[in-house]
Amino acid sequence: MNTKIIRIDMEKELDAQLLNAAEILKNGGVVAIPTETVYGLAANALEETASKKIYEAKGRPSDNPLIAHISCMDELPALVSEIPEAGQKLAEKYWPGPLTMVFPKAKIVPYGTTGGLETVAVRMPSHPIANRLIKLAGIPLAAPSANTSGRPSPTKADHVIEDMDGKIDMIIDGGEVGIGLESTIVDVSGEIPMLLRPGAITIEMLRETLGRVDIDPAIMGPMSADMKPKAPGMKYRHYAPKAEMTLVEGEMEKVVEFINREAKAALAEGKKVGIICTEESRAYYQDGILEVIGSREHEETVAHNLFSVLRDFDDRQVDCIFSESFSKDRLGQAIMNRLCKAAGYHIVNV
Ligand code: TXA
Ligand code: MG
Repeated sequence: MNTKIIRIDMEKELDAQLLNAAEILKNGGVVAIPTETVYGLAANALEETASKKIYEAKGRPSDNPLIAHISCMDELPALVSEIPEAGQKLAEKYWPGPLTMVFPKAKIVPYGTTGGLETVAVRMPSHPIANRLIKLAGIPLAAPSANTSGRPSPTKADHVIEDMDGKIDMIIDGGEVGIGLESTIVDVSGEIPMLLRPGAITIEMLRETLGRVDIDPAIMGPMSADMKPKAPGMKYRHYAPKAEMTLVEGEMEKVVEFINREAKAALAEGKKVGIICTEESRAYYQDGILEVIGSREHEETVAHNLFSVLRDFDDRQVDCIFSESFSKDRLGQAIMNRLCKAAGYHIVNV
């Protein structure tokens, strides 16, 4: 398949640049789009054949449900059988934005989109390109992250081209995304709202709006066989770089000492070593390939660079990666969730 790649100029009129993409989507095609979280692989959420094309392009198991993206509140009632109060409150506060909510689904949403579930995940993206394209296409868009299944989510058009060129109809290059981590997912279909995936809308923010919000225990710990995550996608080894990754927790000085020692040992064995450090610690490492993930003072920079750093290490073909860790509150919960998964829960306490 010949994949069209178009670059959007935000200085020029947007609609004219998106018309072709909207046509492709209306006709059942697949288009990669920038959103404020990560790039998504979009297709008609109401057509089983369209979601099938997404699964194929990603190489993703089809029991993993997709998020339906809408452009405004008027488009929600058609997709859900009920809007619980918690959903209404969160929508008012955080939509459009990096928040996905799980609702009881309406009949019109096919099981091909929900992975056979009776619920549907819905998000209203704030990114001007994503939001406008949904409006122009006139249909809700199912859109998982636009990576090959198992690879780190794409935060730049180049990442999408790497994974999807030749597999989909079009890639819209809207530059680098803002947030860099996938949306927060909250299930509002039950009695107590439950956090299924941490993201930029933090648990602290959700609780401020709703009061009690439970956390799916699958979020932080490794999955044991009898533990079933409520977001089916959370069970797959996600975000994984190709190298073996170790996440090091503890006091900064000890973390640096441990990583320097392990890096030396790995280098002596002839391995290519990658180190994920921060602005604050970069000066303390001696060996290996250093990647600065961001600044501890501004954790949003860490979120923004996380997937890109993992992809860079793939490109450089390192054999092992050692990474510093972060506190697990606020945005740190989402950062640590992704780092833990990338490391396959290989965490060392020093
Ligand atoms: O930020 C995002 O959410 C991005 C952009 C493109 O919008 N999309 C994204 O989609 O991350 P995806 O497919 O990579 O992740 C969707 C997650 C999966 O873990 C899936 O299992 C879960 O949402 N999910 C979808 N529908 C669900 C449902 N009905 N119940 C529970 N979990 C659901
Ligand atoms: Mg994904």
